[in-house]
Parts: sequence; C-alpha cells; structure tokens
Amino acid sequence: ENAALLNAIIKNAIDGIITINERGIIETINPAACTLFQRTPDEVIGKNVSVLMPQPYKEQHDGYINRYQQTREPHIIGIGREVTGLKKDGSVFPFRLGVSEVQYSGRKIFTGFIHDLSREKEAEAKLKDYA
Ligand code: HEM
Repeated sequence: ENAALLNAIIKNAIDGIITINERGIIETINPAACTLFQRTPDEVIGKNVSVLMPQPYKEQHDGYINRYQQTREPHIIGIGREVTGLKKDGSVFPFRLGVSEVQYSGRKIFTGFIHDLSREKEAEAKLKDYA
C-alpha cells in the first residue's frame, strides 16, 4: 500500500524529516531527525518546533510562521536556508533546512527537511587553519 511505502521511505531517510502544524507544533519526526537532535519522538511531539533551535530563532520562530501566513511571502519555503539546530545536550550543529507547505486532508502542515552540515563545516574550518 502507498501509505506503508511512504512510511518506510521516511523511516529510512538519511535526512531528518519533521512535520509541524500551522502553529509550529511538532506532529511527526523521523529517526534521522531524532538522532541529529538527540531526542525521542515522545519528547518532542506536541511541543513547539522552537525547542529544537537556539536563540534568537527560538524566540522568533512563531513570528516567522505568523509572518508567512499573513504575507504569504516565503523566506525559506521553496528556497532553503543554512540554520543552526540545538541538540538535547545543549550543543548546536549547522544544517540545511528545506521547508514546504502541504495541504493534507483539508488542513495545512509544513514539512521540514534537515540535512546535517557538521562534517562539511568541520572540513571547511580545517582548510582555513592551513591557509
Ligand atoms: C521560517 C529558522 C526549523 C518551518 C524560519 C525562519 C528562520 C527559521 C530563520 C525565517 C526566515 C526569515 O524570515 O528570514 C529555523 C531553525 C530551525 C527551524 C533555526 C531549527 C530547528 C523548522 C522546521 C520547520 C520550520 C523543522 C517545519 C517543519 C518554518 C516555516 C517558516 C519558517 C513554516 C515560515 C515560512 C518562510 O519563512 O518561508 N525558520 N527553523 N522551521 N520555518 Fe523554521
């Protein structure tokens, strides 16, 4: 069945995948995202996605979502952005964030794709040390 195939793809994806509702509340999180953020689904489902980011994003993220809903002017949707995530141990890591808007059974959700950039950034920093 189609839904089972989609679940298998999301479960085994290398990149993190998180879905939120129109108020920023986490509804689903796949295993790759759990590993990156050092969280279990139980810890974050039902919480605001802002628990996964450092300041100043944490404080402003509800405002970003509201601004988008009011202006319909995307800043990340369909564009992507390099941002910083917050792990449970308090450390931060860089990742490429892709967000898309999805109409699903009569309501709106947002899906976030999280591509870890830690290794690339470390390699870049090392190269700069030699220069
Ligand atoms: C907007 C940061 C995760 C959904 C934004 C913006 C920033 C940001 C900086 C606004 C950009 C601007 O106005 O210039 C972050 C950080 C995250 C994160 C640091 C780290 C965890 C997510 C996730 C989702 C998401 C996982 C969806 C599942 C949105 C939406 C908007 C937004 C819907 C408004 C639309 C737009 O500006 O295009 N985020 N975000 N964010 N983010 Fe996030």
